[in-house]
Amino acid sequence: MQWTTEQRYTRIEDITEQELTALKQKVDRSPWRQTYHIQPEMGLLNDPNGFSFFNGEYHLFYQWFPLGPVHGIKYWYHTKSKDLVHWENAGIAIRPNDDIDSHGAYSGSGIEHNGQLYLMYTGNTRDENWIRHPKQNIAVMDQHGSIQKRKTPVIDHVPDGYTDHFRDPKVWKENDTFYAIIGAQRTDLTGCVVLYHSPDMETWTFAGEVQTALPEFGYMWECPDYFDINGQGIFIFSPQGIAPDGDHYHNIYQSGYVLGNLNVHTQQLQHGDFHELDRGFDFYAPQTMEAPDGRRILVGWMGLPEMAYPTDDHGWAHCLTIPRELTVENGRLIQRPVRELQNLRGIKMEASALLEDETKTFDSFSGTSFELICTFDLEDADSCGIEIRVNDCEKTIVTYDAAGQKVHVDRSHSGALADTAYGSVRSCRAEGSQITFHLFVDSSSLELFVNDGLDVFTSRIFPSDDCTGIRFFAKGGRAACRAEKWTIGG
Ligand code: FRU
Repeated sequence: MQWTTEQRYTRIEDITEQELTALKQKVDRSPWRQTYHIQPEMGLLNDPNGFSFFNGEYHLFYQWFPLGPVHGIKYWYHTKSKDLVHWENAGIAIRPNDDIDSHGAYSGSGIEHNGQLYLMYTGNTRDENWIRHPKQNIAVMDQHGSIQKRKTPVIDHVPDGYTDHFRDPKVWKENDTFYAIIGAQRTDLTGCVVLYHSPDMETWTFAGEVQTALPEFGYMWECPDYFDINGQGIFIFSPQGIAPDGDHYHNIYQSGYVLGNLNVHTQQLQHGDFHELDRGFDFYAPQTMEAPDGRRILVGWMGLPEMAYPTDDHGWAHCLTIPRELTVENGRLIQRPVRELQNLRGIKMEASALLEDETKTFDSFSGTSFELICTFDLEDADSCGIEIRVNDCEKTIVTYDAAGQKVHVDRSHSGALADTAYGSVRSCRAEGSQITFHLFVDSSSLELFVNDGLDVFTSRIFPSDDCTGIRFFAKGGRAACRAEKWTIGG
């Protein structure tokens, strides 16, 4: 269905109760509703926003167009949790209903200040000629969860030298000063980020553009994030306009990081190479927060813009990833599922076998929503791996090609297809005679952590209901396999 501009800008406040109920009922009939991922009740979810710990709870907001699976007028929707894995819907947080955000409450972040949670976001506004005028706004949430918007922007214009693609403030505090990094596009149509500072979250001063070694790396950098882990600075951003290169950059847009410390006084960022955060099909616009115990936690949007997804026909699109803990080890960013995910574990199964050029199933290893940890020790096999969500004709395949030194995730037979214009296999390098795959599978997704968080593949899959099989294989020789599996949910 083609959505007109008028339909995209229809607000949830302007539809009737009956229309709302009909939209929700359509979504409820979708076979691909997730069981433990944050997903919208209806409509389209995109970026995680305002991820923070405040008043004894984690708060995670997301970009939301309520009325259908398209990028219409965006709201902030609020979810909260005591343990990062059981999330409670808390309703709409920011409505795009003021002069400062009339065409969408776009992405932003949260920080505690004066006993309240300050949410800094981009108000997308458009004039009568449909020209965009982004504004950076503040909304403040009190201890009771009530959110009030400031009625005037804290940054009301784009500095000279940048286009109206200027958005997604990420705030942090260093000593007594607040900093905000904002995604931008230069007037020569290259991407970058700029830095602002503030003594009080109200008055903001433009410090300058962050100087990187990537002066021409795509045409827009969305959703920047900057933080340090034990003194090692990490800069995350989502560049648009990067061409595929070998096994890299095959999605429509990328998300990645560089390691390097930002000097907030000179805006210099000395950094290493750009690395993709995720090697799967569906990952974009991640955001991090610091947990009370000092862990750095990341959540991403399990989706990408401008792509068709099978749930579009059911009136909803996308979900968020499970939270991951970030660490820096041997000069690399490592991502592991947060330990709280163990709170979701149900019945445990264990099995092991020596696979000799064969494909095997293990008793009671099946399901549509589970966690699986599997280690292969290769003797002389060329490759080994796991097939999940299997029926007679569908399967999603995770392969370690030891001979070719690669891991592949193949969703070409996963069931209904997400947009195939960007291919149906994703790969990354791996080596050695042992490999560990840690999988989180839900009704319509796979998150695969390879070798204890060295690489992650995040992908939506849309299998038929009866795809409950799990199989283990070795090809061209022998591989010993040990597997542990836990049910998640019912
Ligand atoms: C990234 C993004 C952001 C913007 C938001 C709008 O997916 O384009 O740059 O703030 O989505 O929903």
